[in-house]
Amino acid sequence: MFFSKIQKSLVSLCDYYKDYFSVGTALSRWTLFNKGIEQKLALKHFNEFVAENLTKPMFIYKDENTIDFTEADKYLKFCKKYNKKIRWHTLVWHAQMPKWIYYQDKECKELATKEMLEARIKKYIFAVMEHTKDYVSSYDVVNEPISDKTYKLRTEEDHSFWQKILGPDYVEKMFTWAHEANPNAELVINDYNIESTIGKREGMYNFVKEMLAKNVPISAVGLQMHISVNDPPVEQIEETINMFGELGLKVLVTEMDVSVYNFEDKERIEYTPELLEKQAQRYKEIFECFKRCAKKGYLTDVVLWGIMDNCSWKNDFPVPGRTDIPLLFDGKGKAKPSFYSITEE
Ligand code: G3I
Repeated sequence: MFFSKIQKSLVSLCDYYKDYFSVGTALSRWTLFNKGIEQKLALKHFNEFVAENLTKPMFIYKDENTIDFTEADKYLKFCKKYNKKIRWHTLVWHAQMPKWIYYQDKECKELATKEMLEARIKKYIFAVMEHTKDYVSSYDVVNEPISDKTYKLRTEEDHSFWQKILGPDYVEKMFTWAHEANPNAELVINDYNIESTIGKREGMYNFVKEMLAKNVPISAVGLQMHISVNDPPVEQIEETINMFGELGLKVLVTEMDVSVYNFEDKERIEYTPELLEKQAQRYKEIFECFKRCAKKGYLTDVVLWGIMDNCSWKNDFPVPGRTDIPLLFDGKGKAKPSFYSITEE
């Protein structure tokens, strides 16, 4: 049984943090198109939205001649109607791209040439930036470019064709085109485990430092922050935000959730009050850290990757059959201890 109504007595999360940073959430298709409890929670507690899936290229760039904004427009209009800040996720990624974009032929046998892929992605970036300029303030221009193995740009071994076909300066090109298309937009490089894997953090740090030295128009680093109750330590998170802030970049937390598991734990854990309390303390210490980083002017946005536990991508991933409870509201839409811990003095 879902709560038919949301808990009206709760303070609005985004109002609570309005002097520090925007508080956003990812909207699934379900949340967007169903006027249920999750949508009500989204509207009450978050002043910034990002689409969990429907603004990814595979849903828009249908074929060489078709860039179809029908569904994306519904998301944009919804956000605009409720006066929410809008993030665009994502222009370029190695996943959820239309497969045809990398190939010359319909059978997807022969890889596209550099000229072909460049023309296709440039056309897409300009089309999206132009179409969304009155709505969107912040774009994930390149998502997840850093390899988990080498801590340098992903290659084919990391399931990415971008560097292979376009060469190592492809990220710079994407940012340059996005900036040309809309010089006012906030342009973000977004990745996971930057706050938790020191080597990957160094890789991203050196990469963006080089981009800044070349005057590439990058505005911010997005830390996805899919973390766990156990790690990384809050000190490391703070150090990470400070590192990028000191480089002169803004930092956005773009996809936060706090799993109760270590990434690949196979054993199901019982969701005891103690575990919920542990998670609450974890959210609390991290939001305190976010406030300190916001005060320094480094952190501007904290976006959670969903609203209710039962709809999280963490259910069944990476361990099939394993559920998780990484968010602030339970499967009935009721605020969890984690919600209270970050909204109490
Ligand atoms: O829409 C289809 C549905 O028609 C079909 O029946 C069903 C069967 O599997 O699949 C549905 O699509 C799924 C889609 O989510 C919408 O729910 C895809 O299989 C599934 O792969 C896809 O997963 C998304 C994932 O990105 C893809 O990589 C997650 O929802 C989404 O939360 C996740 O988000 C990513 C960020 O974009 C980047 N950072 C990591 C984050 C978590 O993985």
